[in-house]
Amino acid sequence: KRHLISAADLTRDDAVLILDTAEEMARVADRPIKKLPTLRGRTVVNLFFEDSTRTRISFEAAAKRLSADVINFSAKGSSVSKGESLKDTALTLEAMGADAVVIRHHASGAPYRLANSGWIDGAVVNAGDGTHEHPTQALLDAFTMRRRLVGRDAGLGKDLSGRRITIVGDVLHSRVARSNVQLLHTLGAEVTLVAPPTLVPVGVGSWPCEVSYDLDAVLPKSDAVMMLRVQRERMNAAFFPTEREYSRRYGLDGDRMAKMPEHAIVMHPGPMNRGMEITAEVADSDRCTAVEQVANGVSTRMAVLYLLLGGSEPAVTTNNARTE
Ligand code: CP
Repeated sequence: KRHLISAADLTRDDAVLILDTAEEMARVADRPIKKLPTLRGRTVVNLFFEDSTRTRISFEAAAKRLSADVINFSAKGSSVSKGESLKDTALTLEAMGADAVVIRHHASGAPYRLANSGWIDGAVVNAGDGTHEHPTQALLDAFTMRRRLVGRDAGLGKDLSGRRITIVGDVLHSRVARSNVQLLHTLGAEVTLVAPPTLVPVGVGSWPCEVSYDLDAVLPKSDAVMMLRVQRERMNAAFFPTEREYSRRYGLDGDRMAKMPEHAIVMHPGPMNRGMEITAEVADSDRCTAVEQVANGVSTRMAVLYLLLGGSEPAVTTNNARTE
């Protein structure tokens, strides 16, 4: 049985196959009829124990474009608030015939537990677990970088060898950073983390990346600069950095962006704290790919669902009779 729990589980060939399949899926979005029949009769459950805008909607759109049935579960308003366990919630979904469960949970390791529990038969996809991993975010980020830094068609079959990626901010609480470091390393990129010393995780020395505390020195050597959200909800209020002190040293404003090479892009997984890690001027500039990342997320998640559930059928055919 196949699951997607961690970016670290993907080989270079796995990752390139997902990115290439996502390019095929993106072509579907350019058609007059945007749906494929590939997952007709399959059920995808979005099991969200933590808030989400992009990831939940994106998985829903991806599953629907592949003609799957979608059930959206949000812990808020469910029997979880009456104390129901993950096991009993999972057994309920299994009874309803879930072929795939896309899970977001505040506890690191919850998707792994679900995948290895025997409670459900379907594929498990990690949509973000605590501060651990968010593998489909890393895949859509890699898809965006490959398109922008290697080329849309020229990039097919290729990885991100030699590209220099800088990830900036609240690394300590960021599952996006953890998944990106793993996947970007697998794809051959050189990753540098820039963060205040208090927001660098213990053990970062064993991660396949460099660490710097000097954003201005790293910017001119970056092909992509990924700004992370400062996750106040995971911090003790006593340790909140003030907006002013944080943005002065680690925020990206117009002056700092001007230090980046002309071809370099600014990325943000969203949601953004405008004025904290990124100014409105940068967020709304042509160089910022935040909205493009969201659009690319649908194609990337289509690719993941197709490869986990799709079986032997080709994802896309040129015969219009096969599309709905
Ligand atoms: N990037 C991301 O995971 O956003 P959401 O929390 O809105 O899903």
